[in-house]
Amino acid sequence: MISARPCCAKRARKASCSVHLLHRDATRLEDIPSNHFDWYIATFLFCVMSDALQPLALAELARVLKPAGRFKLIEMRFSEQPRLRWRQKLFAPFVEAVYGARFDRRTLEHLEDQPQLRVTRTSFLKADTYLLIEGLKRGEAPDLPG
Ligand SMILES: C[S@@+](CC[C@H](N)C(=O)[O-])C[C@H]1O[C@@H](n2cnc3c(N)ncnc32)[C@H](O)[C@@H]1O
Repeated sequence: MISARPCCAKRARKASCSVHLLHRDATRLEDIPSNHFDWYIATFLFCVMSDALQPLALAELARVLKPAGRFKLIEMRFSEQPRLRWRQKLFAPFVEAVYGARFDRRTLEHLEDQPQLRVTRTSFLKADTYLLIEGLKRGEAPDLPG
């Protein structure tokens, strides 16, 4: 588990499996070897990242995932439903001020610019606002030893 937030240590301790918690900047995972993780999961991480930072974090995502490794990202978006969108617009300044998050990030477009990554599925978890993006790193899974 990688997080920039110290409070994640509490959650990690409560987990039912063993969790190795690293405090890292997702745009600079230099001490993590390439092709290291089977999975990369992030919730509401890219919606706090600017257009300048997203390509850096996605390039690191692509680097640290093993070939055929999978990723899941949950992001928030502006709804297409006028009433809901109106409410989101009303709260957008608060959401950005408190969480740094925005509804108009271009994560899917930035993903398309990463040649090593392929989006395999997108679906909504809540109305048309919480977007689950699933994908994988191109390449063959390494052979298991033995
Ligand atoms: C909107 S919060 C989401 C927190 C948590 N993932 C969740 O779903 O409740 C965004 C989180 O991204 C973290 N964050 C922002 N930029 C980051 C970066 N470059 N590297 C690692 N974490 C970052 C912030 O510290 C914050 O905890």
